[in-house]
Amino acid sequence: MNIEDKLIIFDTTLRDGEQSPGASMTRDEKVRIAKSLERMRVDVIEAGFPIASPGDFESVQAVARAVTDSTVCGLARAVDRDIDRAGEALREAASARIHTFIATSPIHMEMKLRMQPEQVIEQALRAVKRAGRYTDNIEFSPEDAGRSEIDFLCRILEAVIDAGARTVNIPDTVGYNLPHQFGELIRTLIERVPNADKAVFSIHCHNDLGLAVSNSLSAVLNGARQVECTINGLGERAGNAALEEVVMTVKTRQDIFPCQVGLDSTQIVPCSRLVSGITGFPVQPNKAIVGANAFAHESGIHQDGVLKSRETYEIMRAQDVGWSANRIVLGKHSGRNAFRTRLKELNIEFNSEEELNYAFSQFKELADKKHEIFDEDLQALVTDTGIEAENERVKLVSLRVCSETGETPNAQLTLRVDGSEQHASASGSGPVDAAFKAIELIMSSGAGLQLYSVNNITSGTDAQGEVTVRLDKAGRIVNGQGADTDIVIASAKAYINALNKLILKSEKAHPQLGDV
Ligand code: KIV
Ligand code: ZN
Repeated sequence: MNIEDKLIIFDTTLRDGEQSPGASMTRDEKVRIAKSLERMRVDVIEAGFPIASPGDFESVQAVARAVTDSTVCGLARAVDRDIDRAGEALREAASARIHTFIATSPIHMEMKLRMQPEQVIEQALRAVKRAGRYTDNIEFSPEDAGRSEIDFLCRILEAVIDAGARTVNIPDTVGYNLPHQFGELIRTLIERVPNADKAVFSIHCHNDLGLAVSNSLSAVLNGARQVECTINGLGERAGNAALEEVVMTVKTRQDIFPCQVGLDSTQIVPCSRLVSGITGFPVQPNKAIVGANAFAHESGIHQDGVLKSRETYEIMRAQDVGWSANRIVLGKHSGRNAFRTRLKELNIEFNSEEELNYAFSQFKELADKKHEIFDEDLQALVTDTGIEAENERVKLVSLRVCSETGETPNAQLTLRVDGSEQHASASGSGPVDAAFKAIELIMSSGAGLQLYSVNNITSGTDAQGEVTVRLDKAGRIVNGQGADTDIVIASAKAYINALNKLILKSEKAHPQLGDV
């Protein structure tokens, strides 16, 4: 592919995506998502903001170690200490990029930075030069470019390109632009910045008005050759442009777009599920590409048309974005080998035989309760039983709940906390409430319940319920997941999973720090 024809896909699920309130991820979860993005052949993975906290630094470092086929990027404000921290976190990356930014809109420079435009240019230049100590793959973003003055943008971009920035990223930080306007901005910048040919023009659009994907695509039609986006459109406030929508639009409308994406789109749905499972942000059924109904035809006329010729109502093939046609995969009699093989086909890997054995025992338990096991069940099982099981300090041993018409539900619970068994019994307004109260009698976590949601993983009354519980303690927010055919047990598992994350998580500031 000619370089001008290639559209670079820069995924920022692990950085901007994590800035969605409640979407924080552990280091191991970030590595799993990064590996999934790498399998998808995403060009650049923004793994985090290393200066934000020791946890963020370690996550970027772990992703840099684990990923070899995609470039791994770390975010840094335009200050020496941020850039040094990013450089250090990325030291072991096979291919590293430092992304540095400073605000350029009048309102941000005056009210937030309290800096004169000349000082902003000076600081941007210093940052780009400093980043050059660590890598020659440097990206610069004028934050709030969507509300910045065009003459000033041209000046700062020319300066940073001269100083060594290879990518200049134009963010619509507050999601204020309209598609025709944003496209025009990109075209004008490319025309007016004298050394524009020495850098790739990138865009980063927020979705406050629901226009992030449209703005991104308009920018691509006007010369941008990198799109910054996230899986499921996760991100600060209303989110970022959804990777799956940008990628599939460009792939599907090759009659319009003068560029191509090198991504393996069949990895989109598995990656979307993984991100949704880990963050606890469900995907709405009618969400384009990755929603459960995206390829479902309800009306008779549509069904008839699709049966006669798929193209009558479908512009993409479900399997091209990773929806699997062959859904029943395993059952009660499937052995370890079949289990391991199917998980491998789903790109689920284990770090040790112990992890595989644990997951297999959970699978056997599930197969006893549920005759047909679908891919979705396996994915939930692995998210749930996880991969981080050895780090769990609190484990569910048993739960018995009595719920009867006219009676107050009661839960009797046994937990293993740091190896020793503890029992509690509690009543509640419902069985889930009673179970959570019993857990709290033992744990006294002091955490507040922010969100409780149940989704069925597959259809049918024997389906597993997948529960997400969001807990908040002193500003630290975690999501816990649990899946089981019994939704009260799934709920208890999710609550305990969240508590384990709260315990494990080192103090972690919100990634969006104050400004320089
Ligand atoms: O939205 C934004 O401006 C950002 C920058 C750091 C690129 O996320
Ligand atoms: Zn952003």
